[in-house]
Amino acid sequence: MHVLIPAVVDTPVYPNQRAAFSPLMIGRMSWGLSYRPTKVPIFIIGKWGLTYDTALSALLPNASVFSGTLVRPGGPVMAMLRAAKHAMRALGSRAPDASPFARMLHARKLPFWCARFKEDFWLVINMQASTGSKKIVGVFYKANEYASMNPKFVGCVEGSLGIRDWLESQGHQYIVTDDKEGPNCELEKHIPDMHVLITTPFHPAYVTEERIKKAKNLQLLLTAGIGSDHIDLKAAAAAGLTVAEVTGSNTVSVAEDELMRILILVRNFLPGYHQVINGDWNVAAIAYRAYDLEGKTVGTVGAGRIGKLLLQRLKPFNCNLLYHDRLKMEPDLEKEIGAKFEEDLDKMLPKCDVIVINTPLTEKTRGLFNKERIGKLKKGVLIVNNARGAIMDTQAVADACSSGHIAGYSGDVWNPQPAPKDHPWRYMPNHAMTPHISGTTIDGQLRYAAGTKDMLDRYFKGQDFPAQNYIVKEGKLASQYQ
Ligand SMILES: NC(=O)c1ccc[n+]([C@@H]2O[C@H](COP(=O)([O-])OP(=O)(O)OC[C@H]3O[C@@H](n4cnc5c(N)ncnc54)[C@H](O)[C@@H]3O)[C@@H](O)[C@H]2O)c1
Repeated sequence: MHVLIPAVVDTPVYPNQRAAFSPLMIGRMSWGLSYRPTKVPIFIIGKWGLTYDTALSALLPNASVFSGTLVRPGGPVMAMLRAAKHAMRALGSRAPDASPFARMLHARKLPFWCARFKEDFWLVINMQASTGSKKIVGVFYKANEYASMNPKFVGCVEGSLGIRDWLESQGHQYIVTDDKEGPNCELEKHIPDMHVLITTPFHPAYVTEERIKKAKNLQLLLTAGIGSDHIDLKAAAAAGLTVAEVTGSNTVSVAEDELMRILILVRNFLPGYHQVINGDWNVAAIAYRAYDLEGKTVGTVGAGRIGKLLLQRLKPFNCNLLYHDRLKMEPDLEKEIGAKFEEDLDKMLPKCDVIVINTPLTEKTRGLFNKERIGKLKKGVLIVNNARGAIMDTQAVADACSSGHIAGYSGDVWNPQPAPKDHPWRYMPNHAMTPHISGTTIDGQLRYAAGTKDMLDRYFKGQDFPAQNYIVKEGKLASQYQ
């Protein structure tokens, strides 16, 4: 039987993916065939063809290796198709018709495709496929005695997103730790050779430019949750890394939590609760500054996924709802939600009795609520911030709470995290702060664990992620981070 195997391989674009076409991957190639070929014409397209030629020749001693040139303008599928046609021409009349092959390519039935035509074999390898055994590092909060209390508690070190067996059964290495700070921490040990880092905003591993420089094998940074500001996104883009998060995974969890915090502040709930704990009973001490939410003006800074869900939940409370965002909603949606668009943030803010922050932390929103802006807010304003701590000037918030200009501040996000014992927000009056918990409900965890697994699976197969998940892709930041 005559065997013909043109393998079309396009090398990845970024130098740190250079080793992607490893001996292990080549091992898999031959494993994918029913018998070992005697003569293997292999076409290679790519910048570092020679490196791979050598590797291939060593592993498949009978292979005839043809090096091609980079054919990128039409995109990877076109490049592969063109290379395949070139291969067929070179191989002459024995080559089968290209059309089934072309259809497979266009249908993106990739990354690994091996089909039999009469007596010939065609093997196609996706240039985007992430091949070989990968080292995946996960940084999560530790649950200790709480770990075994709920089998669905997957967001902690012990639960490891519930993907350990799945990863290890595919030959990948999965290291999980909560030890993320300082030069001798567990994370530092794995930075030089890890391929994927999974982090969560709840216990963020700060991925600095320095760490990225040390991470020679790193390809993918996944945020199990939403908000990737713990990563130096510009440095990640410059290094050719992909950054993605599980967009939408815990938006309901956060919106519900924000509604709760608004009510806790408006009703002056926490001092009443503390009275009960402390054996006191003083209605006046609560009532003099407790209000109804009805009729109050509530403004959200940012009306993306969370902001919209919050506005929808606030509608039945009969408030005056305002929103400021880079983007105005479609008129129908705006009408349904019942919120008015405010193009100018500084015109909206002084109208608000309650302000909720729902933007990501970007260069534009860092320190947005500084002393000057806070000074222009209504006296007695209530602020809820589950977005990111660094959107606020820490000391300006603490001072305004002390003076009473801000009558209540609640949120679950701090800068940095975990918040140090002496963080001023722990000690300011009228706060209702918690650790970073709103997006890590069990329901949220199950969703972001499933989303992370899905992206890893796609990464192994060389498939794209859902478009909305990308924060950095092919050297470019998502638009709201630019
Ligand atoms: N506390 C938690 O557990 C938790 C969980 C999830 C998300 N978050 C935070 O909430 C943020 C928002 O999440 P989302 O799912 O709603 O994101 P999203 O991308 O759907 O919405 C963000 C919105 O902010 C707007 N925006 C961005 N920059 C802006 C600017 N400079 N001025 C005005 N508007 C701007 C965008 O246009 C968008 O509509 C996340 O980035 C994250 O930081 C916190």
